Amino acid sequence: MENKWLNEAFKGEMSGGFQGKVGWQCPSNIALVKYWGKKGKQLPQNPSISFTLSECRSETFVDFEKAEKFGFQFFFEGKENSAFGAKIEKFLLENQSFFPFINQLNLKVESRNTFPHSSGIASSASSMSAFVMCLLNIESQMVGKNIDMKKASYFSRLASGSAARSVFPKMALWGATAAYESSSDEYAVTLESDIHPVFKTFHDSILVVSDAKKSVSSRAGHALMEGNPYASARYAQANDNVTNLLMALKSGDLDTFIDISESEAMQLHALMMCSHPSFILMKPNTLRIIEEVRAFRNESHIPLCFTLDAGPNVHLLYPEIVAKEIGYFVERRLVDYCVGNQWIIDKVGNGPKKLL
Ligand code: PMV
Repeated sequence: MENKWLNEAFKGEMSGGFQGKVGWQCPSNIALVKYWGKKGKQLPQNPSISFTLSECRSETFVDFEKAEKFGFQFFFEGKENSAFGAKIEKFLLENQSFFPFINQLNLKVESRNTFPHSSGIASSASSMSAFVMCLLNIESQMVGKNIDMKKASYFSRLASGSAARSVFPKMALWGATAAYESSSDEYAVTLESDIHPVFKTFHDSILVVSDAKKSVSSRAGHALMEGNPYASARYAQANDNVTNLLMALKSGDLDTFIDISESEAMQLHALMMCSHPSFILMKPNTLRIIEEVRAFRNESHIPLCFTLDAGPNVHLLYPEIVAKEIGYFVERRLVDYCVGNQWIIDKVGNGPKKLL
């Protein structure tokens, strides 16, 4: 793959008035089996599976014009943002053998997120994949070919690991597993045609327990796995969870889905608690919500479960058919645990969309 994309990279001289503007939106995604620990060049230590979201997304526009040398500016929500711009610039420069044409381009990037800035929701998956879609769109205009989604996932992964999963509809699997033939560590694959219809209706309601910036970056978190005494047991568990979850997704087995999703969330946090240094990323209200969710499920037998990202906010996962009951439950029992009573209603989505 890598060689194929190196060989087909546009290395010629750009035509004189080459310029234009492209725009893409890409969603965030929420992992069920978590990617936590990496190796080599941004490769995962274990396979992971996620839902692609719909409402939490980044919208990115890139103005481009032929120039004497590479030029780059990044604006986030209307303001120049050099910290985030530096990450994209670094990604471009590190991968310029695949995109040598950037040395003849001036790029002006404008990006915004549809989810609140202060929601504690990581935006790197949506923003990096939206940028990669724009870059591949510019390339496709030059070479007259359609965008290859495997390539979009591959370069999104290099920009930010979990971004590899954001470029596919419904659900994605990233990381090699014997349980899924076309799986790869280098890019994600869509699970759209391997999941029971119930999973295509899933909602993810995000309860914002804290809107503070994360106390440990995912880069630092992945690195901590290197010295973690439970690392190899964790990777074996994640592999088993992927195998079992793939079967449950196919058959529509909600009990197994709930069991694996909650266990993965707890493992992710347990790993951080026993890292050196140790981090506690849950807040007291995170635990209160978890207890309420489990009690509600036991009493009502409604298939509601939770997952967590590397932070205190709780993602409630449930099929569309019970959305009304969950809405009442959140308003009655959970919303007081959220900062400013904030919760974001999202659901499984269709992946990237061209805006321009
Ligand atoms: O893509 P990164 O490097 O931000 O890591 C993401 C890690 C988790 O969100 C905690 C899990 C995952 O699989 O998305």
